[in-house]
Amino acid sequence: MNIVIIGVALTFEIKATGRAVPQRRVSNEELAQKIDTSDEWIWSHTGIKARHIADAETASSDLGVKAAWNALEMAVERGAYAEKTVEELAFTLDMIIVATTTPDFYGCPSTACLIQNKLGAKNAGAMDISAACSGFIYGLETAAGLLSAGKGRKRCLVIGCEILSRFIDWNDRGTCVLFGDGAGAVLLEKTDAPREGAERRGLLRTLLRADGAGSKNLIIKKGGSRNAYRAGDVFEFAPLIEMNGHAVYNFAVHAVTEIIKDLLEAERLTVDELRWIVPHQANARIVQAATKRLGFPREKFFLNIDEYANTSAASIPIALDELNREGHLKKGDIILCVGFGAGLTYGGNLIVW
Ligand code: UT7
Repeated sequence: MNIVIIGVALTFEIKATGRAVPQRRVSNEELAQKIDTSDEWIWSHTGIKARHIADAETASSDLGVKAAWNALEMAVERGAYAEKTVEELAFTLDMIIVATTTPDFYGCPSTACLIQNKLGAKNAGAMDISAACSGFIYGLETAAGLLSAGKGRKRCLVIGCEILSRFIDWNDRGTCVLFGDGAGAVLLEKTDAPREGAERRGLLRTLLRADGAGSKNLIIKKGGSRNAYRAGDVFEFAPLIEMNGHAVYNFAVHAVTEIIKDLLEAERLTVDELRWIVPHQANARIVQAATKRLGFPREKFFLNIDEYANTSAASIPIALDELNREGHLKKGDIILCVGFGAGLTYGGNLIVW
């Protein structure tokens, strides 16, 4: 007798994407007029040509709201919620998760709460994720977990938003040329799509990993409970990003390679079955080195670092939105997102579009 066990397999589809980047575009040439660097050095060492920098009035939540609104508009325009206005759709959100390394305020309130208020998402819970450049990978899995755990929870926004330009030491040419500001968002929804077969959709599998032993290699030392501000402080060090570039580079190549291999193996997939690999956009050379180790074709990897530089938790949702809006994603495409960053954290999501 054959016994068939039917499991309840929930699926979580990305219904829409959005992004927001500041208008001001700063080219390598413009940077080279202010600091001791050159377009040739930045391009050959990182693959970056430009970054977008926010004006002094803009905080992370402002970019996050714009990206979220952009995603909700897409959801309505593309007919997924034809009967609703964008405001009404925001009202139906159950959860807002924000991944950011550069929150509007340290400690509290969370940037997610500020965005929840600005969106008018009165029925949504809201919280931040602190996993640096892997924040979106962690956020997507957290959202799926919350949707599957909570009865009646159906719809969640996952946002990555950053104003890194305010935490960069503009006198440190080894780091300041690498980063930019921006935000990306996805609308995740619990659906009835099948988990198996040709019609399957959604988040197939996520790996979340960390190596806290490397925490000093990418750090903002000032401002937390370890080195709190006190009245009259003379700063021993400023609240700026400090990075051991070589250590992070080696970790990143290893992390990207490990996650891609392990995700493919766990889901018994080959690289040929992937439509895209969307890596965190930190340095094109990291991706080149991982590509070589894996022996994969370079065209599998989507890179837009030339235009935006490293936008930390925003880089993967910005990339997904670009792919989506430019028509490079079809239903059923398998996409592997892989992230790494301060913590040190790393991980990946395998998604069927
Ligand atoms: O989201 C994760 C965050 N971070 C990362 O993923 C960063 C990982 N690390 C890296 O991407 C690379 O290590 C960097 C791009 C940061 C540095 O590249 P590198 O090829 O490892 O350069 P390097 O630090 O070994 O420096 C080589 C030379 C040095 O000069 P000398 O000592 O050889 O004379 C630097 O002073 O390049 C010099 N240099 C620069 N020159 C012009 C460093 N930064 C610059 C610059 N412009 N911006």
